[in-house]
Amino acid sequence: MQREQWNSRVGFILAAVGSAIGLGNIWRFPYMAYENGGGAFFIPYLFAMLSAGIPFMIMEFSLGHRLRGAAPKVFSKLGQNYGLRLEWLGWFQVFIAAIIAIYYVAIIGWAISFFSFSFTQSWGTDTNAFFFKEYLQLGEHSPTNLGLFQMHIAIPMAIAWSITSLAIFTGVKGGIERASKIMMPLLFIMVLALIGRIIFLPGALEGLNYLFEPDFSKIFDAKVWSAAYGQIFFSLSVGFAIMLAYSSYLPDKSDINNNAFMTVLINCGFSILSGILIFGVLGYMAMEQGKALTDVVSSGVGLAFVTIPAAINLLPAPYILGPLFFLALVVAGLSSHISIIEAVTSAVMDKLHLSRKRAASLVCGIGFIVSMAFATSGGLLLLDLVDYFINNVALLASCFVELLILAWLFKIADIRDYANRISEFTVGHWFDLCLRFISPTMLAIILVKNLVNTIS
Ligand code: PHE
Ligand code: NA
Repeated sequence: MQREQWNSRVGFILAAVGSAIGLGNIWRFPYMAYENGGGAFFIPYLFAMLSAGIPFMIMEFSLGHRLRGAAPKVFSKLGQNYGLRLEWLGWFQVFIAAIIAIYYVAIIGWAISFFSFSFTQSWGTDTNAFFFKEYLQLGEHSPTNLGLFQMHIAIPMAIAWSITSLAIFTGVKGGIERASKIMMPLLFIMVLALIGRIIFLPGALEGLNYLFEPDFSKIFDAKVWSAAYGQIFFSLSVGFAIMLAYSSYLPDKSDINNNAFMTVLINCGFSILSGILIFGVLGYMAMEQGKALTDVVSSGVGLAFVTIPAAINLLPAPYILGPLFFLALVVAGLSSHISIIEAVTSAVMDKLHLSRKRAASLVCGIGFIVSMAFATSGGLLLLDLVDYFINNVALLASCFVELLILAWLFKIADIRDYANRISEFTVGHWFDLCLRFISPTMLAIILVKNLVNTIS
């Protein structure tokens, strides 16, 4: 059977962007930038984007396009030419993707719940107690008690699974591409609308000042550089089988280099928009509550489900801005979730020669059941653990191993030639330099640092 294909170039880019833009852009990037030098963070961030993000993306797009398979097939074919067995690397990536998929969906479920609460701000004034005690049911029971199943969390998670599986079932063109073409423009419109209102609120500009005020002394801090590289790898969804699967559906004539640049630039542009949105809101909140901005900034789960609801309480027309924010979070999350499930599904299709529908039923069915572990009162604890391990170890290790093998065992220049042959503009020798030296060095430094931190 012929491999499925994207219908249009825009469709592919929107799907890739849909994968890249996720919770990380909204709740991770703004805080990262703020903590690591504000405006000055953009220097290491830009450097990481150019020296690691773009070359890595070109490399994955080329491999998927050339070898036409999900990650295990790509690495297995690649290894064959050299008499090496590399399929395991693909499965390792698929395995990480599967783990991400089952905890990511829990957060999307929470966001769906909060979307419904946001119309009336039914989270009340003590948003901290609401999220942890009432919603997650922590505290009264032991946080490790996995036995307490929470139907009110399981239902929105089931909704998220339904949307994802619908897109995967329907296929590359009719499902994933169509979903991305609706979701991505909608996401940008929602975020721009939110910014458009929030920027005029008192305190919002002070918030932006905090975010963008450059602290150039940080540029000499190694921590800041490793934060920038870590953020880039996480943010672009590279190294987890996703971009390989997506690019395997590209038509023969495709501009790899251009597609990679667009995907990376749109993702990073969206991160900056999120930074403006989040710090605008935080600045307003600090002003309203008479607090210093440093007392209200946060990231991750605490930002999305405790701080933002409290800020929404203070906003004008909270019944509009609140739902807009949470819908944006849901859309950003779902489009990433779809891409992760596609990475796993396509690997299963390749390996077991199953039809899309069969493979998708298998993957989504098992995924759904396993993800229910997060619909218990132990969910948050489990999520923290898994998230920590994925972000700090597994993700970087996966990128590092992929790079070592591709850039050192094989001739990386071949990949560059391949991409250049089918692209309108070509990339030069800097590509090899970045993938052989700069990226692996940065990855190794961050990985060792994280491992040391984990142990101590
Ligand atoms: N890139 C996404 C983000 O920035 C997260 C993600 C990770 C998506 C892994 C897919 C796979 O949030
Ligand atoms: Na991202």
